[in-house]
Amino acid sequence: MRLEGKVAIVTGGAGGIGAATCREFAGQGAHVVVADRDGERARRVADELVAKGLQASAVAVDVTRGTEMEGLVEGVLANRGRLDVMFNNAGIFHERDVSVTDTDEDIWDLVIDVNLKGVYLGCKYAIPAMLAGGGGSIINTASFVAIVGAAVSQSAYTASKGGVLALTREIAVEYARRGIRANALCPGPIDTPLLADLMRDEAAKARRLVHIPVGRLGRAEEIAQAAVFLASDESSFVTGTDFLVDGGIAAAYVTPE
Ligand code: NAI
Repeated sequence: MRLEGKVAIVTGGAGGIGAATCREFAGQGAHVVVADRDGERARRVADELVAKGLQASAVAVDVTRGTEMEGLVEGVLANRGRLDVMFNNAGIFHERDVSVTDTDEDIWDLVIDVNLKGVYLGCKYAIPAMLAGGGGSIINTASFVAIVGAAVSQSAYTASKGGVLALTREIAVEYARRGIRANALCPGPIDTPLLADLMRDEAAKARRLVHIPVGRLGRAEEIAQAAVFLASDESSFVTGTDFLVDGGIAAAYVTPE
C-alpha cells in the first residue's frame, strides 16, 4: 500500500475533495485525521472508514484559529506519535466575492482568512511536528485560477489561491534539505458542493465548461488520486510545484469544439 504507516491530516476533510481524499488515503494504509469545521460531517466520514476496517479519526477545527490548529497537531502527536502528511485543503468560495470593485472588505477578509491564513496556520504547526519525525509532505490546495485568470471574477478567492502558491514555494525551498516537501495542488473545476453553488447560474456554468479541453468537470476522486501521489514516497523528488489537475485548462489557448 502506498501510504502504509503514515499519519495524515486532511482539513476540509468532510467536503467534496477532502472526503474523497480521506477515502483514498485510508484505503492506501494511512491513518487519516478528518479535520473540518463541521465536526458532525467529519465524524461521519471517519466512521464510514472505520466501519470498513480502515484507520481514521475526526476532529472539529476551524482552520482560521491558531489555537485550534495548534491543538489539532498536538492531539495527533499525542494520539498517533507522528505526522507525515498535512493536506491543507479547507477552502471557501463566497457568492459576494466578485469583481474587485464590487467585493466588500468583510468578504475579502473572510475568504483570505480561510483560504490563505488557514493554510499558513496548517503549515506553521505541521512543520515542527514533521521535523521532529524526520520529514513529511505538505499539500496545499490552490486552484487553476492561481495560474490563469478566471472567466468569472472571484477576486478574493483568486488572490488567496495565488498566495497559497507563493507560500508553498517558499516553504518548499526553505525546508527541502530537512526532509519536508511542499506542493500546491491546483484543481480545475471539480464537481463538489463548492462548485455546485457557482454553477447554479447557467451563464456562468456555460462560460466555465467552454474552457475545459476534456469537456467535463473533474471528479473529487481525480484530485484525491493526485493527493495520494504527492503524499506518498513516489513523489520524493517533487517539491515546490504548482501541481495542476485541471483537464487541460491552463494549457489551452483555444479549446477545440
Ligand atoms: P467543499 O465546500 O465541498 O468542502 C470544503 C470543506 O471545507 C467543507 O467540508 C467545509 O466545512 C470545510 N471548511 C470551510 N471552512 C472551514 C474552516 N474555516 N475550517 C475548517 N474547515 C472548513 O469544497 P471542495 O470543492 O471540496 O474544495 C476543497 C478545496 O479545493 C478548497 O480549498 C477549494 O478552494 C479547492 N478547489 C475546489 C475546486 C472545485 O471546483 N471544487 C477547484 C479548485 C480548488
